[in-house]
Amino acid sequence: MKETIHSYDDLLKMLDHLLKEESEFNWDNFYSDRDRKVPFFENHPDENLVEYIEKKRIKAGKALELGCGPGRNAIYMAGNGFHVDAVDQSEEGLAWAKERATEHGIQVNFIQSNIFDLGIEESAYDLVYDSGCFHHIPPHRRMGYIDLVKKALKPGGFFALTCFVLGGELGGAAITDFEVYRSRSMRGGLGFTEEKLKEIFHDLKTVEIRKMRDMEPESSQFGTSALLAALFKNETME
Ligand SMILES: C[S@@+](CC[C@H](N)C(=O)[O-])C[C@H]1O[C@@H](n2cnc3c(N)ncnc32)[C@H](O)[C@@H]1O
Repeated sequence: MKETIHSYDDLLKMLDHLLKEESEFNWDNFYSDRDRKVPFFENHPDENLVEYIEKKRIKAGKALELGCGPGRNAIYMAGNGFHVDAVDQSEEGLAWAKERATEHGIQVNFIQSNIFDLGIEESAYDLVYDSGCFHHIPPHRRMGYIDLVKKALKPGGFFALTCFVLGGELGGAAITDFEVYRSRSMRGGLGFTEEKLKEIFHDLKTVEIRKMRDMEPESSQFGTSALLAALFKNETME
């Protein structure tokens, strides 16, 4: 990496690099042992996503999933009539997702990429879904993330995400954006409140923000009140 900043993109990459230097964490290693007791390792969709679709709050169409990991929500959406483009940077996570989709005879367009390097089709998606990726996005990338969501959504399209509750049981660092850079750490993922999510995604209409419902381990859906589930709508006109 050339240590000279010529552009806004160089600046973003420098900050990515500085944060990464201090971190041992790697998503490919994280997914390499599939038998670990990680709540979202089960192939069960998020309870909020199931609710949006079963209650017909969101109709089947074209969906983009950001940070799909082993694919449980992408597979659920595709099984319910969506055409799904599902993106993750982790080769290991996507290998697992593809095996699962094949086992279930389900078609998903899995894409291995950093979400910020995606060349996406503009105004093409009825739903952008993110379960647990946004809270790992460092603050300097947040504007790029918002632009990506807005660019991807059709007028009238929905954006839904689940993310750590501030200071929650599973994670959700209660630190300022500045503190991320002072300590050079995301502390395993940032925490959010309803107010903060509304502020960040103020260009979209808030439909609902609530805690996820706690689901029993034997349930066929995933849910924990340590995560917020938020649903937004793109109300811009064509
Ligand atoms: C907590 S996991 C959630 C996985 C999946 N959504 C689920 O709930 O089962 C977060 C995922 O986001 C992915 N991720 C984080 N930052 C990313 C980025 N900039 N581009 C692509 N994927 C990213 C990671 O590789 C990881 O698979």
